[in-house]
This record gives sequence, structure tokens and C-alpha cells, in this order.
Amino acid sequence: LFSPVEMAPRDPILGLNEAFNADPRAEKVNLGVGVYYDENGKVPLLRAVQAAEEARVAEHAPRTYLPMEGLAPYDQAVQKLLLGADSPLLSSGRLVTAQSIGGTGALKLGADFLYRLAGKRLVAISDPSWENHRSLFETAGYEVVTYPYYDPATHGLNLQGMLQGIEALPEGSVVVLHACCHNPTGVDLSIEQWKQVIEVVRKRNHVPFLDIAYQGFGDNLEDDAAAVRLFAEADLSFVISSSFSKSFSLYGERVGALTLVTGTAEEGERVLSQLKRVIRTNYSNPPTHGAKVVAAVLNNPELYAMWEQELAEMRIRIKQMRKALANRLRAAGVEQDVSFIEKQRGMFSYSGLSREQVDRLAQEFAIYAVGSGRICVAALNNRNIDTVADAIARVMLE
Ligand code: LMR
Repeated sequence: LFSPVEMAPRDPILGLNEAFNADPRAEKVNLGVGVYYDENGKVPLLRAVQAAEEARVAEHAPRTYLPMEGLAPYDQAVQKLLLGADSPLLSSGRLVTAQSIGGTGALKLGADFLYRLAGKRLVAISDPSWENHRSLFETAGYEVVTYPYYDPATHGLNLQGMLQGIEALPEGSVVVLHACCHNPTGVDLSIEQWKQVIEVVRKRNHVPFLDIAYQGFGDNLEDDAAAVRLFAEADLSFVISSSFSKSFSLYGERVGALTLVTGTAEEGERVLSQLKRVIRTNYSNPPTHGAKVVAAVLNNPELYAMWEQELAEMRIRIKQMRKALANRLRAAGVEQDVSFIEKQRGMFSYSGLSREQVDRLAQEFAIYAVGSGRICVAALNNRNIDTVADAIARVMLE
């Protein structure tokens, strides 16, 4: 039965964890996966999360099944966080949210839904995009194409290319857009640029699929949701995949959500009925713990304020590390302009390192980065930054 099964390639991101774990060198640094580590190199357990967990344990609650679409207070809190507390959509009946198995689970649910129930077959992702976008949509049956996004010459956005690329797609294509903290480039759109994208999307009748996994890591929770809110104001139907893995430091709990912004309350009811079938035939219903914790924090003003503060601390520390890395590269003799490291947003820097340079970093210095040159700045700290900056400078200069 299994003899014809061929060896699969390592996952370009999660596969790095395997290589990193197997590396015996004590000084090794993992700049691969998008995980926030604190100043001590540890994945933090947020104080707000701990408080919510303690209260939950004290409840000794039974573990029954959740509804197929997940915990209602969680789904409602997700909608509020994405669309804003004063959004008229919140009470319109037009929003359909399902708790999902992380952001990846939300993407897969959305992909399956649009394939099965809206007949979608073509999806466009940014060039470059999160490595798993392509594989995920291909596995869901789609043809995956790209639209221009990143301009290596400026380390910025290729806006004209992006607009033209999206315009040239067949009418009604699914277009995946990173709502903030673009993965892997850290290059985001301004409000004005989003408005231009929205006009093209509207004109071509495309289906916007907004992926937001890093809300709070750019400027703050509200401003990072600006793209979502602009699409809502434009009165389009669209799809949002969101995740609390990073913002709550709850990676292993797999807490995400799929939100569908439908045209009417009646449409919303039909859409939810079908989404429940997609969920039921995949995994039946989602797990309880992570969603309970997140809902407890989001729905309690004191815990919310505590969380917002902790999220700000993570964001500020990443920004400090960006600055420190750029400064140390300059000090180590790198003459090319590295100011882009400070401008990029979110957890990553799209460093411009080539595949060969990335391989050298792993082999010679035990520093692991994604093959595309993406490095996770959130894994840097005052203890490893000198070693990392020196090694990067070495592979850039030699
Ligand atoms: C990443 O891009 O590193 C994260 O989103 C983790 C993942 O699942 O790839």
C-alpha cells in the first residue's frame, strides 16, 4: 500500500524547526518560523492569558461539544476586533464568523467554501506570499497565480504592478490580500493605496480574501484593521481569515476565525448553514480552550487593557530589534542601505539574503532563516543580536 509513497520535501517554514531542533550547536538561533520570543528567548505566556486560564480552571467546567461554528462570545468578539466596535455590520446579520483551527484553518475553510459553494477555481496571491498560501489553495483544488507586490529595488511596494496584476485577472477571481504586516515582506499599503486596490477589485468583481494574522504588530489593533474596515465601508462582500496565534501568543492552541461579510442578513443565514456543513465534514466542531481564553480576555475590559499593553510591549521590542539589527549591520561594514529593516512591519524582515546566503547562515553559523531570505526579527534579543548581525554581515560581505 505505502511502497509508492515518495518522500515529501520539508515544509519551507515548519521544516526549519525540525532542522533547528536537530542541530546540536548551543549557539543556534531560529529566525525561521513566525513566533515571538521575549528578551529571554522564551515564547511568553501573556499575563492576560494566564489570568483567563486560571479563572477557567477554577470553574471546573465540563467539556461538551462546541457548536460547529464555535463559541458565540468568541465569534462576536472577533467581529468587533476586526470591524470595529461601532461598525453597523455587527448588528446587521450580514457577518458570519466561525471559530477555526488557527489562521490556516480559516484559510482552508474559506478556500473550501468558495470552491464548493461559489464555484471559484482561480486564486491570486501576492508575489511573494506566505509559503503555505500556494500549497493550501492548490490542495483545495485551485489554480494559484500571483500578482506583483514587492519591488526588490526599493524594498517597497510595486503598487502599479499590483493594481495592473489584479485588474488583469479573470473577472471574479479570488484575491488573497494581507491586511497588515505582510508575510514575508513586512511591506504594507497606505490607506490611499488600499482605496485604489478596492476600486480595482470592485470593478473586476473579484472576491477579496483578507488574511490578517498579525493584527497589533504594525501600529496598534485599530489601525492594523484599517484595510478590513475599508473593504467593509466599500460595501463589498468579502472573506477574512484571522488568527490569535501571534497576538495572544497562543500558537499551539490554534485559535483563529473565518469571517464572511455577506450582502444581507438572509444571505448570511444561508451562508452559515453551508459553512457549518464544510466544518462538520472536516472536523465537526472546534476545540474549546483557546477560544474560551481569548473570549474571556476580549470581553472583559480589564483583561483587554492588560492584553493590549502586552501586545504593545511585543510590538515595541520588535521595533527596537529592527533598529538594533540595522545599526549593527552598518557597524559591521555593510554599506548597502539597510534602513528598510526598520521600515518593514510585523515580525519579519525580508532581508534580501539569497538562498545561498541563507544556507551558509545555517551551515556555518547555526542561524536558521527561510529560504526566501525572510528572517523573524521577533526572535532576536540583546543576547543573540551581535552574533546574528555579525553572521549576516559576513555572508553579505564575503
Ligand atoms: C510563519 O509564517 O512563520 C507563521 O505563519 C507560521 C506558519 O504556520 O508558517
